[in-house]
Amino acid sequence: MVNHALSVVLVHRDSNERAQLRAAFETAGSVQIAGERPDLRGGLALARQVRPDILVLELDRRGPEETLAAGAQYRMEHPEGTLFLTTDQLDADLLLRAMRTGAQDVLRRPFDRSALGAAIERVAALKARKHGSAGGHKVITVFSNKGGIGCSTIATNLALALRQISNGEVALADLDHQSGDVAFLMGLTPTRSLADVADAARLDSASVQDALAKHESGVRVLPQPEQLDRAERLEPGTVGGVLETLSAMFDYVVVDAPHGFSDTALEIFDRSSTILLVTELSIPSARAARRALEVFQRLNYLVTPDRVRPIVNRFVENGAVSLAQFEETLGLSIAARIANDYAAVSKAINLGRPLFMDAAESRATRDLIALAQALSGAAGQHADNVVEMPRKPSFWKFRKGKVA
Ligand SMILES: Nc1ncnc2c1ncn2[C@@H]1O[C@H](COP(=O)(O)OP(=O)(O)OP(=O)(O)O)[C@@H](O)[C@H]1O
Ligand SMILES: [Mg+2]
Repeated sequence: MVNHALSVVLVHRDSNERAQLRAAFETAGSVQIAGERPDLRGGLALARQVRPDILVLELDRRGPEETLAAGAQYRMEHPEGTLFLTTDQLDADLLLRAMRTGAQDVLRRPFDRSALGAAIERVAALKARKHGSAGGHKVITVFSNKGGIGCSTIATNLALALRQISNGEVALADLDHQSGDVAFLMGLTPTRSLADVADAARLDSASVQDALAKHESGVRVLPQPEQLDRAERLEPGTVGGVLETLSAMFDYVVVDAPHGFSDTALEIFDRSSTILLVTELSIPSARAARRALEVFQRLNYLVTPDRVRPIVNRFVENGAVSLAQFEETLGLSIAARIANDYAAVSKAINLGRPLFMDAAESRATRDLIALAQALSGAAGQHADNVVEMPRKPSFWKFRKGKVA
């Protein structure tokens, strides 16, 4: 049970419609209307002041752009607040664009009270979980433009580690349609997948929730469909919309990203608070990572410190390439390293039991927990294998062609 009423600000041009909305909200859940405005500007100004739990904006079909842009801006300024949009006519395209602004739900007239009640309940549940916990709403994307380097292993175990450390709500999204092996690595045989979200009549938090498989740890898994052709048909924008929706529903979303800079990958990167660039201490991997950093540079991602964090997987001391040489080549510090532990990792994969569950003593597991701690900003000492990134990336070093 949630004790505190959620505060709501309603914005709608039509006073009759506003009254109906108000009545629908008041009967659907424990809410308190903190204010109403007939115009977008006034509504946003009010919302910036009272910081409601839910801001409801009317999506005018004839000119939705202004509302969509304002909604996206508001969500960026107030990531802790929830945005609902209302409309009387909805097509797939508009819905998708609405979800991509970060709206949690789009309410269509006539309002379905039980659907509205469920949407309010989800906001209340998220708020209750968040109470007293800082941060949240983090999208951590595990990426390498080279395959086979450990992205799926890291994404899977990182999700489990974040769940254990933060006790928050964690989703693990398999967005790599080529491999699609996250469910398998988690030992799950799901019946629903990302393709079902895309096929659903509407993309919202309810349809995404329906497609999630529950792992015994509490981590929710969004799997790829079994059939590759269903996976390949997914539009990049749909994948972006799904990720946006997940990030509104969960404290942490861990993404196993596709290998390469496809349109889908760019949709994913745009919505990621952290991109873990997975590498290994080898020349080919350093070259690939440099190319990736060049793209991230062009996308302006390196402007925000720590948004792109290179990590080394399968780390061994005294390997052919030293960590210092590697960092020199990259022009960026390594944020974390994960030990090479072939026995534990391959056993975990073959048994479909994540490393984290059966091999808690493995060095790789300990490194993954340290990484999760660093990412969640968990209280406590930093593990000594986590190197803080410099405030100012020395990326320009390599741009100037200082390294081979
Ligand atoms: N820390 C580690 N120690 C030892 N082996 C590892 C480690 N991490 C990953 N591996 C091994 O590397 C291989 C690739 O791992 P994984 O499937 O996670 O990589 P990927 O980047 O997701 O690959 P794909 O191209 O299939 O998406 C696996 O066989 C796994 O056993
Ligand atoms: Mg993979």
